[in-house]
Amino acid sequence: WHDERLTLVVFGASGDLAKKKTYPAIFDLFRVGALPRLTIVCGYARSKMSDDEFRSRIHEYLQDKGSEEELERFLDICIYRSGQYDGIEEFKETSAELRALHECKDDQEVENRMYYLAIPPNQFLNTIKTTREGGMSETGWTRVVVEKPFGHDTESAKKLGDDIGQYFDESHLYRIDHYLGKEMVQNLVTLRFGNAFLEPLFNRDHVKSVIISFKEPFGTEGRGGYFDSYGIIRDVMQNHLMQLLSIIAMEPPVKVAGTTKDGTDYSRFVRDEKVKVLAAVKPWSLDDVVLGQYVSNGDKPGYLDDETVPEGSNQPTYAAVRMFIHNKRWDGVPFIMKAGKALDEKKCEVRFQFRDPAGAAAMFGESRIPRNELVLRLQPQESIYMKLNVKKPGLATSMVQSSLDLDYTDRYDDHQIPEAYTRLLLDVLRGKQATFVRDDELLAAWEIVTPLLEEIESGGVKPIPYEYGSRGPAEADELVKESGYVRNAAYAARYNDWK
Ligand code: BG6
Repeated sequence: WHDERLTLVVFGASGDLAKKKTYPAIFDLFRVGALPRLTIVCGYARSKMSDDEFRSRIHEYLQDKGSEEELERFLDICIYRSGQYDGIEEFKETSAELRALHECKDDQEVENRMYYLAIPPNQFLNTIKTTREGGMSETGWTRVVVEKPFGHDTESAKKLGDDIGQYFDESHLYRIDHYLGKEMVQNLVTLRFGNAFLEPLFNRDHVKSVIISFKEPFGTEGRGGYFDSYGIIRDVMQNHLMQLLSIIAMEPPVKVAGTTKDGTDYSRFVRDEKVKVLAAVKPWSLDDVVLGQYVSNGDKPGYLDDETVPEGSNQPTYAAVRMFIHNKRWDGVPFIMKAGKALDEKKCEVRFQFRDPAGAAAMFGESRIPRNELVLRLQPQESIYMKLNVKKPGLATSMVQSSLDLDYTDRYDDHQIPEAYTRLLLDVLRGKQATFVRDDELLAAWEIVTPLLEEIESGGVKPIPYEYGSRGPAEADELVKESGYVRNAAYAARYNDWK
């Protein structure tokens, strides 16, 4: 594909997502030479604009990413065309023009097409249809990248899947979840299955509990209209955190690199294992859930103070959920997923807490020995650390909890970690679907959350108020404690491990 022509069309090119994420990622790929030499990037949206007007619009989002010279060269391959998302005939013309633009530059015959749909959900299906009927590549592949929301609940996701299925089969579709492009998420398979001293421990015999947590230090801030129709469960848990869950808990895939005997890529092996995890989780119910909504702390506004939020909304901005994976490996191990907006810090991590070391408390004459933990921090700064017990250095004979720490910034100071979108767009070009969500994974995730969402939306559930900038509702800490997680307060305070 690198020597073939590439036509990359960004639908919704004048929108926020395209400017802030899609174009910067395409520019990153351009800078490192990962785009074919014969590439045209065409922005497409309803607003009328000249190529130059469009270029100056995206300029400010790209200027910090490369030199002015690189940017000039990149903008040179970017053009813009306006049209309706359901304008099949219009788009056919654009499509023919794009083909002709390539033809006047070179005599390479194969032209591949990549479509990126950065558009509002109500235009989704129109655009899919337009792409299919007006823009299929005649000589190469056609791949379509789609962004959430993929439905609102099980039924709507199923319908959307069926509707899209009339135009494209799974091999063309790349459902993006940017968490799958994060460095630490990409590292999970290596870490779990590439280490002889870790792999045998990831199961119910050794792990006591697992906590997946996502914290953001800001509220909806102007995005309240969007957020209120989704809530924290749809916005972050059903997609990003459920994807994390499925990877940290899955069985080893047959293959994660190279091609298979039948010549296809290995993606299906990874996705087959992920979906099995989700299939083994029962739908969430209110009995295992704490819901919260942030209120003003006197300084910052509460959720309901956001003018874009409907008055009196019950939409949770925080949720903590306990679930179990009912399979041989994880039976009985609580997995707790927590996510919240307007909290005390920005953080996303996965924490495996191990069982008490057998007999050790009696041996050392302690009432309790701190438990080992393996923490995988996705952000703000990638790191992996393992909490372990050592003898307190010096004359003392007592025990102290310490850690083996792999902080990516210290260790890999010469490595730039790519943006999630950059990496994922490269996977699309390479035809690697493992880092994209398959239709059955999506439905399995919706099936887990939909009954709870229905209960919340029937109006009877009032989220617990928590202050902007706090840790979230105290009831969530209770849920964690009840699930058997033991916090080492001394370690947490000293190393800022668990606020
Ligand atoms: C998005 C959500 O999908 O993910 C946002 O819609 C959230 O509400 C964001 O802030 C988090 O992404 P990241 O990469 O900043 O952790």
